[in-house]
Amino acid sequence: MIEKYFAIAPEKARELIEKTKKQKPVKHGIDSHVYVFDEYAVLAARNLKLRNIATQDDDLAYLDELIQTLLELREQGVSVVPILGYRVDKDDEDGTGYVLQPRAKGSEMYDDENVYETILLKTARIAAAPQAHFNKFISGIIVLFDNDILIDFYGKSNFFYDDDAGFQFIDLKAHTDYKYGLTEQKFDSTLLAAYYGFAPCHFAAGTKLLPHFAMDETAVAALGETALAQLIHDNKAIYDKCKTALLRNGVTEEQMRQAFEILKIFGID
Ligand SMILES: Nc1ncnc2c1ncn2[C@@H]1O[C@H](COP(=O)(O)OP(=O)(O)O)[C@@H](O)[C@H]1O
Ligand SMILES: [Mg+2]
Repeated sequence: MIEKYFAIAPEKARELIEKTKKQKPVKHGIDSHVYVFDEYAVLAARNLKLRNIATQDDDLAYLDELIQTLLELREQGVSVVPILGYRVDKDDEDGTGYVLQPRAKGSEMYDDENVYETILLKTARIAAAPQAHFNKFISGIIVLFDNDILIDFYGKSNFFYDDDAGFQFIDLKAHTDYKYGLTEQKFDSTLLAAYYGFAPCHFAAGTKLLPHFAMDETAVAALGETALAQLIHDNKAIYDKCKTALLRNGVTEEQMRQAFEILKIFGID
């Protein structure tokens, strides 16, 4: 067994791990179960020695470095949900064990699948978010990429939103390919922000970036006319705030033009 607790007392960590055994997980993915308590979240996972699916991390050196960086970023006021510590229980190849985190505030920005019961309310909530929350979301993306931390934009559930705390980044479990020596060049963080900074928007059919999020014909038909008009209105407000935040964070119009060669936003021509 390997235990490493960076920012949580070992007794507290062990107590939380024991508690998961008497409780139902709130979420279960393919490789993980997530348990939430008042202030903490515990992730039970089978692949703690794998970073971003493919990079083996047998001695957990990458994980330790990731944790240090996340804790430093949180100190600096970046809205990351860090890893407080971990325990690897079995001496198996992939690493079966637990990861401890603070519990993110609020709830998922959106659900991973378009859920029509919640999409209008969730979109209205994001549309009403203050510009300052968007600015911090974009600066967070840039600083995370500057630090070679991978943000998983393939899931909208990897971003939490809270009316007071704003956007928070969760599911930060790996570095970028560049860090692992899988690509030669480090991407420009502001260019990546131009592409992915519109994540709080709904995307339109035909988007080449994150096409699984596109509002296709079935999605549009399911909404009905009034709801559709509301969604387009709110999505435009979100788009405008994202754009303002990008410009304030040094992303150029040219970089956004480049992004819009493959990105289509719902209701925006
Ligand atoms: N720290 C946390 N606070 C609150 N909820 C969390 C936390 N971590 C995970 N969750 C919940 O569990 C889900 C899956 O966790 P995540 O870290 O995204 O793992 P996966 O790699 O399975 O996507 C999240 O979308 C969220 O709903
Ligand atoms: Mg996730």
